[in-house]
Amino acid sequence: MRILFYTGKGGVGKTSVAAATALRCAQRGYRTIVLSTDAAHSLGDSLSVELRAEPLLVAPNLWAQEINALHELESNWGEVSKYLSDLLAWQGAETIAQGELSVIPGTEELFSLLQIKRHYDEQKFDVLVVDAAPTGETLRLLSLPDIMRWWISRLFPIARALLKVVRPVAKRVTDMPIVNDNVLGSAQEAIDAMVAVRAILTDQNVTTARIVMNLEKMVIREAQRSLTYLSLFGYAVDAVVVNRILPPDVDGHFASWYAMQQEYEPQVNEMFEPLPILRAPHFSREIVGTELLSILADKLFGDTDPAAFLYRGQVQRVEKTGDGYDLIVPLPFASEDQVHLAQNADELLISVGWHRHRIVLPQSLARLRALDAYFENDALRVIFRRGVA
Ligand SMILES: Nc1ncnc2c1ncn2[C@@H]1O[C@H](COP(=O)(O)OP(=O)(O)OP(=O)(O)O)[C@@H](O)[C@H]1O
Ligand SMILES: [Mg+2]
Repeated sequence: MRILFYTGKGGVGKTSVAAATALRCAQRGYRTIVLSTDAAHSLGDSLSVELRAEPLLVAPNLWAQEINALHELESNWGEVSKYLSDLLAWQGAETIAQGELSVIPGTEELFSLLQIKRHYDEQKFDVLVVDAAPTGETLRLLSLPDIMRWWISRLFPIARALLKVVRPVAKRVTDMPIVNDNVLGSAQEAIDAMVAVRAILTDQNVTTARIVMNLEKMVIREAQRSLTYLSLFGYAVDAVVVNRILPPDVDGHFASWYAMQQEYEPQVNEMFEPLPILRAPHFSREIVGTELLSILADKLFGDTDPAAFLYRGQVQRVEKTGDGYDLIVPLPFASEDQVHLAQNADELLISVGWHRHRIVLPQSLARLRALDAYFENDALRVIFRRGVA
């Protein structure tokens, strides 16, 4: 299965571009599904159909789906949600309906990401197009499995061991709801699933991300940051999309918008090189329904297959050197003063601004120490050598 992941700042046209991409894939004969990880679902509006929690056939070869957190909670994570509501109730909240749990921030996106794994495992579709939430949230969510895996690998064994000892006592001294093994098992299962989702999304033979932007300063900056962070987390990006390009024949105050866009256009080409740039004009009305989405797809892709890998770049790689290894992490748009490194045994923690990524080091590197790092061609080269005492 091929996965195309669209992200970008709020309102730039992610949903429209994702829907147009999915439609074109379907028109080319791929069995395609498009799903939105954004809690504020607008995919249905874009396609002009009412979507549900299960895939719905919306055009020949094209299915679409909007994840409903409540539905997911009830059908798949009943034990966990019961425990959480017991716990919240015990903490003083009156009774908590399961429905209220689904308003925990990120729940909708989380379940949508888990849905990606389901589709990947079932292999019923050739192409999966993901309409992701605006950049920051998506990246936070995508880094979650890493964080959770870290906590789980360190704390779960302890928690389990403690539980054996504490549970009989705890029952007597407090009426706090105690996690049972089923809940722990479900939590572990959810985390395993998230780890699997991340593995799927960072498999560059399966998934590529595409960053949608408009020709505006703030939007371009955010697109640059997304590219840095996506690279940091090991996601391959194979194109950027410039949407809402104004035609030259506009007048009134749009004439100055046009002038501004003309100024940014060549800059964008330089900035995102060597990534291909897909372009779409500013339509004279909102893009709703398959007819207009098909026109948007023409503008974006022409005769190109949207499911193709539009660029194949390296994500992280390891190079053998004379006396050690170098780890090369592409970090476009980052600068040395923003990057901080810390090594802890088999892990390397790379921080860029407030984003932190823990890279679990391969055996060949874990035995060595990260002694130095420098930037080279938009990539951070970390030098690993035998540790000096
Ligand atoms: N090229 C375009 N020309 C004209 N209108 C457009 C264009 N692209 C998108 N739109 C319209 O702009 C609005 C926002 O687009 P869309 O919902 O695709 O953005 P989004 O990035 O998904 O937004 P959000 O961050 O809120 O999810 C929609 O009404 C859509 O029809
Ligand atoms: Mg959207």
